[in-house]
Amino acid sequence: MSETFTGEIHAMIKGRRIVLGITGGIAAYKAAELTRAFIKEGASVRVIMTKNASEFITPLTLQTLSGHLVYRDMFSPLKDFEMDHISLADFAEILVIAPATANVIGKIASGIADDLLTTTVMTTKAPLLICPAMNQSMYENPIVKENIMSLASRGYHFIDPGYGELACSTEGYGRLPDIEDIVDEVESMLTVKDLSGEKILVTAGPTREPFDPVRYISNYSSGKMGYALAVASRRRGARTIMVSGPTSLPVPKGIIFIPVKSALEMRDAVMDHLAESTVIIKAAAVADYRPSTRSDSKIKKEKGPLTISLERNPDIIDEIGRKKGKRVLVGFAVETENLIQRAREKMLAKKMDLIVANDVTQDGAGFGYDTNIIKILTPAGEVEELPLMSKYEVAHRILDRIRDIIRSR
Ligand code: PMT
Repeated sequence: MSETFTGEIHAMIKGRRIVLGITGGIAAYKAAELTRAFIKEGASVRVIMTKNASEFITPLTLQTLSGHLVYRDMFSPLKDFEMDHISLADFAEILVIAPATANVIGKIASGIADDLLTTTVMTTKAPLLICPAMNQSMYENPIVKENIMSLASRGYHFIDPGYGELACSTEGYGRLPDIEDIVDEVESMLTVKDLSGEKILVTAGPTREPFDPVRYISNYSSGKMGYALAVASRRRGARTIMVSGPTSLPVPKGIIFIPVKSALEMRDAVMDHLAESTVIIKAAAVADYRPSTRSDSKIKKEKGPLTISLERNPDIIDEIGRKKGKRVLVGFAVETENLIQRAREKMLAKKMDLIVANDVTQDGAGFGYDTNIIKILTPAGEVEELPLMSKYEVAHRILDRIRDIIRSR
């Protein structure tokens, strides 16, 4: 399943130059959908098809979708030929082969360059993403496995094929990975790894504070802001741990995920991982209070009003602020009045290095939206105001500030 959980979880593909190599397998028809997905993300796409690929899907389809001539032959250029294999290799900021047959994987692993695609692979300095798709027995063949391992050890990227029904009427591994997964991988590969070496702990989502087995006090946090931060942090190369309250979002790939329910559980999970973290981002909306008692059975409806007494939850960020040492600590603030002033007070009182203030009174900002409108405050008195943007873009802007703090130390 894709790690996409909001309307917009890609920011690096826009304006980038992608060369898509299509080889001769039944999944070649899915390359049309992939081309469309890249174009939708704002990429400029050039397609190279092998001779066998054109048996499965017509070049005209790819030409129409990419808006450019399709490259097929080294020696008989098309009428309006735009580039040769050298220029295609230079043009590529990333080269994706989807689907990649056992044959093309074997050729690349053996250094064979006997057509336009393999010659471009051999020439380009761009990173290469190979998306194998073939019959399961072929995929399990030790020669294919060895070729994949040998290429992976040289730094070539692979996405494992998906499981499901295969063209040969069997079921197994060998399907082209989901288009969303390929796009996610390209986004990751195009993201600069400027946070590698960092260990980033993100908290996300709401907490639930139960007062009987079927009811709890909580808030409207969907987790989208925290999850976007975790995805962006991982893509920028940081080892990422996310402590998350209950949400309906899929767990992002490649992170350490610690699910919790209450503020007390969140506090313990955060403290357990504080020592190993270099950066802590507290995007969770932690309940400040919890019911003082929890009934073991469902509280019965009575005639009069029901009073539930509340007690304070631990202030997790305050505790981190006191123990943080050289770690970078970033908090969030939700206020409906005097946003900047209150956010600044919280930042200074709890020794944060940044605070992200979201004005939840504005449309498109705060709880539940795919977008946010934030102001980033620093202890030195700076206030960076950002316009409405996707939570994923917001996450990158926050991580940019964190990177700058780390570099300035
Ligand atoms: O999840 P979404 O739907 O995407 O919405 C995003 C968000 C609005 C929840 C998020 O961007 C956000 O602002 N999260 C923090 C909300 C909040 O709890 O604000 P606060 O002003 O009450 O708390 C200030 C800071 O203290 C926060 O970093 C919070 O995580 C932390 N805190 C609060 C209480 C507590 N007991 N312990 C804490 O650590």
